[in-house]
Amino acid sequence: MATRAAKAINIAVLGAGTVGSQVIRLIQERREDLQRRSGVLWNLTAVLVRDLDAERDYDVPANLLTTDIAEALVNADVVVELIGGIEPAFDYVKRALKAGACVVTGNKALLAKHGPELFALAAANQVELQYEAAVAGAVPIVRALRESLAGDRVNRVLGIVNGTTNFILDRMSTTGATYDESLQEAQALGYAEADPTADVDGLDAAAKCALMASLAFHSRVLIDDVSTEGIRAITPAQITRAREANMVVKLLAVAERRTTTSGEEGIDVRVHPALLPAGHPLASVSGAFNAIMLECEAAGELMFFGQGAGGVPTASAVLSDLVATAARHGHGQHPPLESHYEQLPVLPPQSTRVCYQVSLLVNAADAGLSEVVGEFAQHGISIQRASQKQVSIQCASQKQVPIQCASQNQVSDAQPAIPHLENAQVQSAERASVVLITNPATESDLREALDALRSSPTGVQVESVIRVEGVA
Ligand code: NDP
Ligand code: HSE
Repeated sequence: MATRAAKAINIAVLGAGTVGSQVIRLIQERREDLQRRSGVLWNLTAVLVRDLDAERDYDVPANLLTTDIAEALVNADVVVELIGGIEPAFDYVKRALKAGACVVTGNKALLAKHGPELFALAAANQVELQYEAAVAGAVPIVRALRESLAGDRVNRVLGIVNGTTNFILDRMSTTGATYDESLQEAQALGYAEADPTADVDGLDAAAKCALMASLAFHSRVLIDDVSTEGIRAITPAQITRAREANMVVKLLAVAERRTTTSGEEGIDVRVHPALLPAGHPLASVSGAFNAIMLECEAAGELMFFGQGAGGVPTASAVLSDLVATAARHGHGQHPPLESHYEQLPVLPPQSTRVCYQVSLLVNAADAGLSEVVGEFAQHGISIQRASQKQVSIQCASQKQVPIQCASQNQVSDAQPAIPHLENAQVQSAERASVVLITNPATESDLREALDALRSSPTGVQVESVIRVEGVA
């Protein structure tokens, strides 16, 4: 029984798949607690699905199931949208809001594309639109950014926010499983989106990045603003090379305030695979776990960690919104407002400076670190770490060449740091593998340096290029 009042709310759930079926199960099994926490009675009135006869993780009572959206929305006070994708979810959410129902959703794709229209519609109809489950599954990052840090200034968000890709990269790295095997396993465990291209191409993480950036910087950031690369191009060789360098490959979402050389304040928002040093706090985030690090002006560094995908953990986040929404709805209170007063511009990705790991094959007799580093210097890129390994089977030897780091702020103007080549002791071999980590550089400077190396007569071959976080 609800303790404060006998007022009841009608709840309709749209979708009874991986997440929806667990939300319905927990409402049925924990109804008493949920009612006490929200102070109102919970009536589950309808569950919308595509196929009435589909097998489900939880046996939804047959009398609740419907395939008719109009029937599902009748008398609903709160609509829980767990269908996913843009259509028909967009249409259904708009219909619910216009009908005066509050909406709770886990649909980041929808919000990162049509959020402004939906939030405006919710405000116009004096109802709420909540989405804790849309970012990082069970991890309460939406509420933390919107409410707990409402008095602070967030400068940077760095996160692993896609469980599927983290699971795949982790499996490839720790068990040697192939990309396809790891993806199939992630799908079987319910982590992947209905169309897993959204996961592996970085779009799911980009949608979450846009939502976090909007909250962190009080600006409207949409998925199309996020510069996005997925993990399809990551090779087993890159994963091995990362391990050899005591690093791991992760798909990262980054959103940060940046001031341009012309003094304009804006934000960088990007999703891409990157190397992290093994000691970095995000490096040990394994499986489908998610983690988000925040850099705040007053609070300093904060880290959030937990299960980022899966039906049961995500249902926890959906229910947190349901309890809060039910309580406010039942007692005539207003939700926290959407805040976008700062409206910082999204800066062009070409101007972003990051560190890169570059792996090259050179003809050791003709070229080596000196030529490579010299070419980078010509393009204003300094090197912070380099190693050369002979790839001849008879005489494989490796030499790490620690290099004095130019600090991040000096990079653009300073004479690039050149490694002490006398320490490299390059032995003669047919081919040598050179692996460098640069100081922060723009993508265009890097591309020009690599083009110049590729066209050099000494036969430099670029094996791979990947960004590196946590080393500058
Ligand atoms: P599923 O694909 O497992 O479930 C989707 C459900 O929606 C199914 O019950 C399906 O019906 C129903 N559905 C789909 N299309 C329609 C339609 N046109 N009309 C009526 N019903 C429809 O998705 P998930 O549960 O995995 O994801 C749901 C949402 O939660 C997505 O927005 C996702 O991004 C988000 N999310 C998912 C997480 C996860 O780990 N899975 C984690 C965090 C968020 P039927 O069963 O009959 O086919
Ligand atoms: N497909 C998503 C993931 C589900 O793998 O993280 C959680 O949003």
